[in-house]
Amino acid sequence: MNVLLLNGPNLNLLGEREPEIYGTTTLSQLESLVAERARELGAAVRAFQSNHEGALVDRLHEVRKWADGVIFNPGAYTHYSYSLRDAISATRLRVVEVHLSDLTQREPWRRVSLIAEVAAHRIMGKGIAGYLEALEWLVAHPR
Ligand code: DQA
Repeated sequence: MNVLLLNGPNLNLLGEREPEIYGTTTLSQLESLVAERARELGAAVRAFQSNHEGALVDRLHEVRKWADGVIFNPGAYTHYSYSLRDAISATRLRVVEVHLSDLTQREPWRRVSLIAEVAAHRIMGKGIAGYLEALEWLVAHPR
C-alpha cells in the first residue's frame, strides 16, 4: 500500500506553533513516526508539506496513480479551499482528513470543512496519534 502524508499551511511550524493546541512534536518527528509505523505495516509513505494551495493540489495530481490513500491535514484550507476539495474528487484519491485539534471545540468557523464531504474518513482531536490511526485505517480498509 502506498500512502501520501500531506500537511498544509503552518504545519511546518509544528512543535513551536501554539504547542498548547498542537503539541510539541515537530513535523519531521511526525513524518518519521508515520514512516516507522508504515514500515511495520508494510506500507510505503511519501511525505510532503506546503504553505501553498496550488502546491498541495499539484501533489495530489502527481500521486493520483501511485497512492492508495492520503493522510491529509489541510490546515486552514480545510475551511475554505474549493480547489483542494475538487482535487480530491477529481483524482478519486482516498483521503483520511486529520486534525490535531478537535474542531468542534474551537471557533465556529473551524467547524466548517469543505474536505469532509470528499474524505473517506475523518479523525480529529487526537494529536499526533490521529495520523497513526489514519494510516492504520487506510491499511485496514483497502480499496
Ligand atoms: C488544524 C486545524 C485548523 O483549523 C488549523 O487552521 C490548522 C491545524 C488541526 O490540525 O487541528 O492549521 O488542521
